[in-house]
This record gives sequence, structure tokens and C-alpha cells, in this order.
Amino acid sequence: MLDIQPVNPTLGANVSGVDLRKPLSPADRDAIEAALVEYGVLFFRKQDITPEQHIAFARQFGELDVPPLQTKYSANPEMTVLDQDSPKGEGADEWHSDNTFAAIPPMGSVLRAVMIPPLGGDTCWANMHAAYDALSGPLRRMVDELSAVHDITKPMRKAIAAGHSVESLADIQAQWPPVVHPVARTHPVTKKKALFVNGNSTTQLVGMSERESETILRLLIDHVRDPLFQVRFSWDLHSMAFWDNRSVQHYAVPDYDQRRIMNRVTIVGDRPY
Ligand code: SIN
Repeated sequence: MLDIQPVNPTLGANVSGVDLRKPLSPADRDAIEAALVEYGVLFFRKQDITPEQHIAFARQFGELDVPPLQTKYSANPEMTVLDQDSPKGEGADEWHSDNTFAAIPPMGSVLRAVMIPPLGGDTCWANMHAAYDALSGPLRRMVDELSAVHDITKPMRKAIAAGHSVESLADIQAQWPPVVHPVARTHPVTKKKALFVNGNSTTQLVGMSERESETILRLLIDHVRDPLFQVRFSWDLHSMAFWDNRSVQHYAVPDYDQRRIMNRVTIVGDRPY
């Protein structure tokens, strides 16, 4: 029987009593979707499933994104294979939500551990509603007025440098021009506001000088580092995490130098407002 238990007061819940090799019952699907919105990130253990079953699980929550950065290891276009052994500075070790350089960033991501190092390689998530609520009144009022440019060029350069992308920068730039999103987005289900800057791809606050933008962006990106908003998950083989990309950010701890392989599928979202 499906069981969902929160793991800390801010975000995260463990989900057990479900076999992700099979389609979910309508009741379990709805309970998982509601828990995703409530807890921000859901953890599943011992899900020894195929890439196709992983894709089928995610598809029960919406249409799947085809990621703009096709990794050279992917066999399925919907699946990103993150195959790393010394990932410092490659991008996932910045607080971020996935693919905010898209006009319609993903609603959620489902990540599964396929090979893990003996120690290290945890992932952390942060609750962006809590981060928004913790800003002082004057800063929150300013943030409510701000919008920001998100640009694929920033993560793309890192992916190319690390040898993870098969695409050229010029092709990617043509397909994915910079987009503007609000700095505080409203969650489409709860209507609560969440801080929405991305250490990986937010490049400029609109209407500000470069110096103002850089200083305020740094302040907001650093604010996410407060452990008050966070939960940390230690992977074991076949663990999965499903997170709400609209209300949480994540950070992959780059403290290992053995091979770590993760499969990730993202679900189409809606335009932030
Ligand atoms: C990601 O940034 O989506 C991947 C996180 C991880 O590898 O733990």
C-alpha cells in the first residue's frame, strides 16, 4: 500500500509501497501528484526499472520534454544520461532548477541512480517558497517587480567543455534564444510564490545596470544556500527522486571521483507567471 512520509519540516517525503515497473492506479497517481506539490521532492528506493519503465512512470504526470541538450549517451530522446566521474564545475553543482532557459521550463524531473560511487554524490534540494518567504519585506517587494534573462549559453559552455554534449553552441543558440521569466514565480497549483533564479542560466536582471544585476543576482542565488530551506538525499542503486521544478531547486554534491550515472526525464510544464 502506498505510504508517503515527510522527511523534514521544509521539504521532501519518502514514498514506499509502490512498484514503478507497473502503471500506477489512478488513486496512487493522484496521491503522488498531490505529494509532489506538497513536499516538493519525493524519494523512492529499490526501483530496479528499465529506462522505458522510468519514461512510462514520468509520462503518467504529463507530456515529456525532449531535452535541448542531447547527451551523447542517451538512447531515448526523452532521457538525459548524466555519466560523470569528476563533476566539479560541470553545472549540476550550482543551485538550479532544470532547463529554465526554455520559454516553458519543465514541471518536474524524475532522476534515477544507475551507478553510484561508494561514497558521496548526494543531491540536495531547496524549497523556493521557503526561500522567497524568508526574504525581508523590502527585498521581497523588489523581487516581486523583477524579471530576469535565462540563457542556455551558460550551461551549454560547461556541457561542451566537459565533453557531454554533441551539439554545437551556434545550433543551440539558434534554437534556444534567451528568455525572460519573473524572479518570483507563482506556482500554478498552490498560487504560492517561489524564488525563481537559476545559478546555472540566469544572466541578467531586466532593467538594471550590469553591476546592480550582478550584485542582486548573487545575493538571491546565495540565499538559496541556507540549509534552512534544504533536504539532502544519499542515493543507493535504483533510488529515484521526483521533484517539482516549479518550487524547488537542486544541487548535486561533486565530492566523488568514481563513476556516477543518473538517468533523468523531465515533464513539460507551463509558462511561469
Ligand atoms: C540534475 O542537476 O538534474 C542532476 C542532479 C544529480 O545528478 O544529482
